[in-house]
Amino acid sequence: MKRIEGKTALVTGASRGIGRAIAIELAREGAQVAVNYASSEAKAKEVVAEIEKAGGSAFLVKANQAVAKEARAMVKEAAERMGHLDILVNNAGITRDALLPRMTDEQWVEVIQTNLNGCFFCTSAAVPIMAAQSYGRIVNVSSMNGQMPAMGQANYSASKGGIIAFTRTAAAELARYGITVNTVAPGFTETDMFAAVPPAIQAQIRSKIPAARFAHAEEIAKAVLWLVADGDYVTGQQINVNGGAFMP
Ligand SMILES: NC(=O)c1ccc[n+]([C@@H]2O[C@H](COP(=O)([O-])OP(=O)(O)OC[C@H]3O[C@@H](n4cnc5c(N)ncnc54)[C@H](OP(=O)(O)O)[C@@H]3O)[C@@H](O)[C@H]2O)c1
Repeated sequence: MKRIEGKTALVTGASRGIGRAIAIELAREGAQVAVNYASSEAKAKEVVAEIEKAGGSAFLVKANQAVAKEARAMVKEAAERMGHLDILVNNAGITRDALLPRMTDEQWVEVIQTNLNGCFFCTSAAVPIMAAQSYGRIVNVSSMNGQMPAMGQANYSASKGGIIAFTRTAAAELARYGITVNTVAPGFTETDMFAAVPPAIQAQIRSKIPAARFAHAEEIAKAVLWLVADGDYVTGQQINVNGGAFMP
């Protein structure tokens, strides 16, 4: 028996990187998965094809989660197509790095709007659906950089710290409806997002990680799977998957 057989899941930002790995992992363990993307349609189609090739079930849902209407319509569409919505993984995120003296209002607003507000838009749309089922598993992907200083990422770290705080209050409010809300906080993970960091800085960062390497997206996905498959009495918590790079 697969671990989440019969469950349904929506994974935001599942066309690439960590979201892709999460979608594939949840599908491998039996969930039907709605694969969200904003612009990388071809990549998202590859994810659906990979899931189907392995015998799983998945379909595409296009939406820019920074736009409230689109995010909410996506959640509704996913729930309607699957008949119910058991799992929401708020994974989509962006960076627009600049040191504070050079950070523009646009960079600040775009990151907060996408990462933090987008997480709220999707969650608030999923809550009535999950509450009516008396069951829901919400996992928000935050970041190590939401818990410690991150040079050039005042906008990003604020968005991720916001997600951590949001998770705790949402967990406290929603436990009575059978909904758990947790966060997985990756450290530096080998994806397109991290590939944008210059190699010299990557080497500097790696030298400070006790595990002496970056994470693979699949290692983040395993923590998400554990929360949704086995974390029935776990809510308002955070799993740090960072190779020991930050120990709160
Ligand atoms: N990589 C790391 O080192 C690291 C560390 C800590 C936390 N994280 C977090 O992990 C999550 C995934 O990161 P990643 O490294 O996998 O990033 P990535 O490789 O850049 O992929 C980002 C994903 O988010 C989607 N996305 C971006 N903006 C969107 C929007 N407005 N609406 C819907 N989807 C959107 C992208 O879809 P399209 O391609 O279709 O635009 C893509 O699927 C993010 O929340 C990130 O902050 C990453």
